[in-house]
Amino acid sequence: MTNPTIDLIARHGSVRRYRPEPVAREMIETIVAAGQRASTSSNLQAYSVIAVTDPERKARISELSGDQTQIYQAPALLVWCLDRARLARACALRGYEQNTHYMESFLVAAVDVALAAQNGALAAESLGLGICYIGSIRNHTQAIIDILELPPFTFPITGMTIGRPAETPMIRPRLPLEAVLHWERYNPDQDEALAAYDRAMAATGIYGGRQVAVPGKEGEMEEYGWTEHTARRISQPKRTEMRSVIERQGFRLA
Ligand SMILES: Cc1cc2nc3c(=O)[nH]c(=O)nc-3n(C[C@H](O)[C@H](O)[C@H](O)COP(=O)(O)O)c2cc1C
Repeated sequence: MTNPTIDLIARHGSVRRYRPEPVAREMIETIVAAGQRASTSSNLQAYSVIAVTDPERKARISELSGDQTQIYQAPALLVWCLDRARLARACALRGYEQNTHYMESFLVAAVDVALAAQNGALAAESLGLGICYIGSIRNHTQAIIDILELPPFTFPITGMTIGRPAETPMIRPRLPLEAVLHWERYNPDQDEALAAYDRAMAATGIYGGRQVAVPGKEGEMEEYGWTEHTARRISQPKRTEMRSVIERQGFRLA
């Protein structure tokens, strides 16, 4: 079953090479306004977007984000920020104090940011632009907070490069639907789906046709696939200072 909206969604592939033409201010406004149309918890709209087009600022952010040249090359970087600073102001105007003492206040706003960002991503793609999320802006979160002058009760959740694509991105296979869609109750039996996905991802060639040892079967080799790739990544600690940066921004995560 399909329609133009579902087709657009299905054509998504992250773009990491851009043409230099600037993205018109009006397009950025349209993209962020589309983000604002996403559902938002209690209508809080707990986000702000910093549009970065200044080459020097992009270069700094690029350096701090694993030297990803796409950030420098893209005509614009949108930084989708969690924003409870505006809500703090609404409280102050009305003689209340916002409660940001619990994990929930951060989580609710982080979900808001993600929903708005993805609406914005689809809007950008519908306008013929390419996008790539940039989680690496959290490699040195405090430095990004300083560069963007983010006040207390805000936090940069993700960057997003946007621009005219200079490449046709691969459409990466996703997990088999049966691994993700469960009916009535969770089905933990996923090994077959994982094996099928390993084969599908290996077939794209992105892992370079490498072989790896089959765990528990001495001497046997198999193609390096998504499970091996992902397990290697997620078994490492990552951005371990996140909690302290979040707390420095005024949130408590009780
Ligand atoms: C929150 C988030 C952060 C991401 N951060 C990066 C990043 O820093 N650099 C990058 O090249 N891709 C990044 N990506 C893109 C993912 O790698 C990509 O979406 C995933 O591999 C699936 O590929 P596709 O988007 O082409 O379908 C990020 C995606 C998300 C959702």
